[in-house]
Amino acid sequence: MKSNTTRKLATTLVVVGAAAFLVAQSDDEPKYLGVEACKTCHTKDYLDKFDDEGERLSTYGVWKKNDHSRSFETLKTDVAKAVAENYGVENPETAEECLQCHAPHFDLPEVRTAETFDYRDGVQCETCHGAAEDYLTLHNLKSKQEEARLAGLVKPDSKIEWCKTCHDDHHASDPIPDFTPFDFERDWEIMSHTGL
Ligand code: HEC
Ligand code: HEC
Ligand code: HEC
Ligand code: HEC
Repeated sequence: MKSNTTRKLATTLVVVGAAAFLVAQSDDEPKYLGVEACKTCHTKDYLDKFDDEGERLSTYGVWKKNDHSRSFETLKTDVAKAVAENYGVENPETAEECLQCHAPHFDLPEVRTAETFDYRDGVQCETCHGAAEDYLTLHNLKSKQEEARLAGLVKPDSKIEWCKTCHDDHHASDPIPDFTPFDFERDWEIMSHTGL
């Protein structure tokens, strides 16, 4: 049977080991660069998609036009304040209860974000495609597709399951005037930016 001291020491070592591992991990993991880093090229990759004025849209253009790019701004509205009351939330702009979906990167440690990154850009490119630091210069080359994936580029496997991580009809009984339940076909049509 092990003595108490040995057991304590063993536990301590495990804890210290785990802490060292966590520190190493967050230093090693790629940084989020922010939408500005995607804008350069993805404003020129025109899709077979047009806005109400008949203007042809790019990948970035689709995002900019839809509600994901406004999801943080939404938290400043009177409707948001009314919703917040249902959750006992004072200020939606700073409450985890709202930011977790409307600005999902609000709590990233500084080591994980580049200076260009702003969580107030809401549900952004890297929310769905992964932190870009390590894949940015690989993913645009046909020959480096596999490497880009290994460096963190994500294309959500199951689109519908991915959407539902936020679109869980969270607001079904909240005072949102034009609330409609999530409908994958309709909502994917609105936000999709494929067909390059
Ligand atoms: C230097 C230009 C450039 C920049 C900057 C850039 N991309 Fe791209 N990206 C491309 C090109 C080129 C492709 C390939 C398009 C194609 O398949 O024709 C691409 C493809 C992609 C794809 C699809 C990959 C696949 O395997 O289908 C995703 C997702 C993507 N980019 C996300 C991003 C994100 C997120 C950012 C910002 C963090 C970004 N890109 C910044 C040029 C760029
Ligand atoms: C990280 C969370 C998150 C993920 C993942 C996500 N969304 Fe959203 N989405 C939101 C939020 C938050 C809003 C509300 C934006 C606003 O109006 O402020 C929204 C709004 C929308 C809207 C605008 C229409 C509406 O109902 O208000 C569409 C369309 C949409 N999302 C489609 C999708 C689809 C399709 C997927 C999956 C491919 C997806 N979203 C994945 C958080 C997310
Ligand atoms: C589980 C994810 C999730 C959480 C948590 C969440 N929201 Fe939302 N919110 C959404 C999604 C997705 C939408 C888009 C449409 C829908 O499903 O209602 C949305 C839409 C809204 C809208 C309507 C926007 C519009 O354009 O009409 C408001 C206002 C809003 N949310 C406020 C809040 C506030 C305030 C909180 C915190 C108390 C909060 N949300 C927490 C996911 C979330
Ligand atoms: C709410 C999640 C979400 C957001 C936000 C988002 N994307 Fe995507 N993106 C997807 C999904 C899902 C696909 C399709 C994956 C598939 O075809 O399986 C996709 C596909 C793409 C593709 C490949 C297009 C093709 O023809 O294959 C590019 C390029 C891309 N995204 C770039 C971007 C850029 C740039 C931004 C920000 C301006 C962005 N995405 C924001 C979810 C998202």
